[in-house]
Amino acid sequence: MSQNILVIGAAGQIGTELVQELRKMYGTDKVVASDLAERPTNALADGPYEQIDVLDAKGLFDIVKKYAIDEVYHLAALLSATAEMKPALGWNLNMNGLSNVIELARDGHIRKIFWPSSIAVFGPHTPKDMTPQRTVMEPTTVYGITKVAGESWCEYYNRRYNVDVRSVRFPGIIGYKSAPGGGTTDYAVHIFHEAIAHGKYECFLNENAELPMMYMPDAIKATLNLMHAPADQVKVRTSYNIAGASFTPAILAEEIRKHIPDFKITYKPDYRDSIAASWPSSIDDSMARSDWGWQPDFNLERMVEDMLVNLREPTV
Ligand code: SER
Repeated sequence: MSQNILVIGAAGQIGTELVQELRKMYGTDKVVASDLAERPTNALADGPYEQIDVLDAKGLFDIVKKYAIDEVYHLAALLSATAEMKPALGWNLNMNGLSNVIELARDGHIRKIFWPSSIAVFGPHTPKDMTPQRTVMEPTTVYGITKVAGESWCEYYNRRYNVDVRSVRFPGIIGYKSAPGGGTTDYAVHIFHEAIAHGKYECFLNENAELPMMYMPDAIKATLNLMHAPADQVKVRTSYNIAGASFTPAILAEEIRKHIPDFKITYKPDYRDSIAASWPSSIDDSMARSDWGWQPDFNLERMVEDMLVNLREPTV
């Protein structure tokens, strides 16, 4: 089926790679990238690009009509660390941005939405190991609060207006093509760049802060598999738990040392360490596996090897 796709927040860590995959799959002209900046980044410049502030509902509507958009991947948000610095903006962007997109679907202007949630929906009272799909949430960060509220908003629009909005709870995402933007899990990307450039890294989490993580190709695969699943297989309309690999900074450093033997890591935990402490260590993703066949391809070893090969010899 020929369809036109809009990616909002396309210049971000996930957006950059998602646009490239979607353009491969659907054709460059079919995928409109958009972000706050007036001009596209180099990675997005091969196809259509529009400057969009998702808080501007009228501007968003005009772009949806201009390109006859069917599907929206709405990725624009303030992440956990940045939103703690600007809580009111975090609430406004994360909630009203979602509302503006979801109302386009309610009013019949678009057919399908992908909106990412996060492991940040969980809090200090959540069971930490193999966190179930349905459990105590009570997040402590404004980012987590907006993701829990957003999940309920999605489910409400699905139940009440039959809006086809689909979501996964992303863990920390690690990739080599794009930089992460203001998350608690960003250390797991920075560490690779510093290991290659300087042979050392000072980590802002403590050495035992175990968090769920995922390699970018798996994150893209989860997104596309969920979007391509028949609607009746998407039974969870809040957001699906998905898991890749869980590890601590110390374990990641040890794995990097297998390739860079002299690599040194030191620790200087800051406020992000308390955010990490409130999140799960590992995730039970059995519902995503049984409902739409989710399965990750990368474990820690394969991910570290692939990151280092690609960062040392850039192929893109
Ligand atoms: N990577 C995100 C963050 O740290 C989690 O969704 O904010």
